[in-house]
Amino acid sequence: MLDRILLKPGPLNDDEFELVRRHPEIGAAILGGRHASALMDLARTVALTHHERWNGSGYPQGLAGESIPLAGRIVAIADIFDALTSQRPYKQAWPVDQALDWMREQRGCHFDPQLLDRFLAIQPKILEIKLKFADRPSPV
Ligand SMILES: [Fe+2]
Repeated sequence: MLDRILLKPGPLNDDEFELVRRHPEIGAAILGGRHASALMDLARTVALTHHERWNGSGYPQGLAGESIPLAGRIVAIADIFDALTSQRPYKQAWPVDQALDWMREQRGCHFDPQLLDRFLAIQPKILEIKLKFADRPSPV
C-alpha cells in the first residue's frame, strides 16, 4: 500500500494523503518503545518529529519552536533539501539554487532559523555529501 502511494506519479487522494501524514507515528511505532537504546530513542524521535515545523504548522503533533526536538529540526532541513533536489515519481528534481531559495523563504516558518543558517553556511560540504551518496545524477 505505501509503495503504491510513494510511487504514484500523480496527486494523492484524501485517503492516501492522510496515510502519508501518519508515517511519522507509524515509523516511531516500528522503532519501538522508549529506552530500547539511546540510538533507537534518537531514531524514534527523528521519525516522530521530522515533519514538525518551526511555526507549529507541521504534523503529527503541531509542535513549534524549540519544543521540537533538535534532532527533528535538523532532519527536517536535510529531508526537505533531499526531497526537493531529488527526482520522485511525481516530480523532477529541483536545481539546488532553486531549492535553497525556497528554503530561505521558509526560514523561521518551516525551519529553525539558526539551524537553517548553519545549513546554508556549509553548502559546499552539503553538496559534497549529496553527490557522494546520490542515487542518480541531479541538477546542481
Ligand atoms: Fe517523512
